[in-house]
Amino acid sequence: MSARINPSILSADFVNFERDFGTIANCDLIHVDVMDNNFVPNLTFGLPMVARMQQIAPKPLDIHLMIANVDKWGPGYAETGAYSVTFHAEASENPVQLARALRSIGARAGVAIKPGTEVEPFLEILHEFDQLLVMTVEPGFGGQGLIEDTLTKVSKARRKIDAEKIDVWLQVDGGIDETNIARVAELGADTFVAGSAVFKAEDRANQIENLRQLANSGIKHRH
Ligand code: DX5
Ligand code: ZN
Repeated sequence: MSARINPSILSADFVNFERDFGTIANCDLIHVDVMDNNFVPNLTFGLPMVARMQQIAPKPLDIHLMIANVDKWGPGYAETGAYSVTFHAEASENPVQLARALRSIGARAGVAIKPGTEVEPFLEILHEFDQLLVMTVEPGFGGQGLIEDTLTKVSKARRKIDAEKIDVWLQVDGGIDETNIARVAELGADTFVAGSAVFKAEDRANQIENLRQLANSGIKHRH
């Protein structure tokens, strides 16, 4: 298993996405935060912007929907040709049905849980998803500190994925940087979103490689 580093463009220059994409082209996927000022108290962009990004991005898009009514609006994002669409369990009436809809359109289907949401109910239905996103901060803003308590969910999910050999990526998002990524990888994450840690770096490509190596060393130390 090799770590994936997905920079979050929430920390990019919103009027220079194309230029900023060029600075992170050695990443694995590009993490795109869609916020509706309803499910979260922040607003980014919607479907037309994501559809356009899809055309110019150097890597596949990893879309993180922080929107209400996601059962209705989520499938449209998969229809842009997005590689992966992750929605919040808290915003969906029927996460399994939505994941099946996303998969049937051809996207990988991810389910995300906020820091206050228990992981256990999702461990029983992990095979319905291609990715589990354990939020390590409250969704809404970049640059927050990682909430340590959330990491027990990462360990629990890793144990379940390994025990049952389920093919699901375990993503973490929020407060991930060079000081904690190896430890979070050792606990079980394999897919790492990093916003400020990548975009504030002087050499972003170098920082992506640095984070990848640190994460891979953490994965190696798992017992
Ligand atoms: C927060 C977003 C994150 C955010 C992470 O709600 O989902 O993707 O950009 O930013 P950092 O890495 O700065 O915590
Ligand atoms: Zn995100």
